[in-house]
Amino acid sequence: MKVIVIGGTGVIGSAVADALSGTHEVIRVARKGGDLHADIASKDLLERLFAEAAPFDAVVSCAGSGAFKPLDQLTDEDFAYSLFDKLMGQVNVLRTAAKHISNGGSITLTSGVLASEPMPGSGAISLVNAGPEGFGRAAALELRGRVRVNVVSPPWVSETLSAMGMDHSGGMPAAEVAKAYVKSVEDGSLTGQVIDARAVVSA
Ligand SMILES: NC(=O)c1ccc[n+]([C@@H]2O[C@H](COP(=O)([O-])OP(=O)(O)OC[C@H]3O[C@@H](n4cnc5c(N)ncnc54)[C@H](OP(=O)(O)O)[C@@H]3O)[C@@H](O)[C@H]2O)c1
Repeated sequence: MKVIVIGGTGVIGSAVADALSGTHEVIRVARKGGDLHADIASKDLLERLFAEAAPFDAVVSCAGSGAFKPLDQLTDEDFAYSLFDKLMGQVNVLRTAAKHISNGGSITLTSGVLASEPMPGSGAISLVNAGPEGFGRAAALELRGRVRVNVVSPPWVSETLSAMGMDHSGGMPAAEVAKAYVKSVEDGSLTGQVIDARAVVSA
């Protein structure tokens, strides 16, 4: 398969691209670096990306971020940025990719553990992590038979916790998280699912 990994230079995206590279043709996309460039906040840039990359069989989105701050410090701009980048960015990915992807292909979005297991300071991120889960399930219904749609929910990643100077022992290595994305891409029966990466590893 030809697989486009958006965010393919990041912690999770690199691991996903590496895991898929042995058996698939992988194109890594980011705003800088990677094989091709796009910003998920821009539908025009995504249109150009997918038109250039077509034909392709799968898109994996491992991009998008949000603001992590206590509720009383989150500004309107923090909410707008989080909604625009992590949530609408991935909505843009699905809406534009669906026009160009091969029949029977798959689109995988990313949510995150903070959607269902919040912590103080995660208000904006919990909001924009929950969004892709609802959107992905609904989009899968409408695209059933043409394109599969799933959402991977990663837990805290060990490498990210280390980079933040936190104890990484409660996290999952990115290479393990990547297995959930590989399942979404390769399991042709899977659609409309929110895949908890912890469940894939412990199965
Ligand atoms: N790491 C964790 O512990 C964790 C846990 C749960 C969920 N998640 C979610 O998993 C996803 C990936 O996280 P990560 O830790 O791998 O992030 P990361 O290391 O910061 O990597 C982000 C990747 O996405 C690209 N990117 C960022 N914004 C983009 C944009 N607007 N358009 C296109 N590409 C963009 C980056 O490259 P450029 O900057 O060059 O564009 C990079 O390749 C995020 O949605 C995050 O919320 C992460």
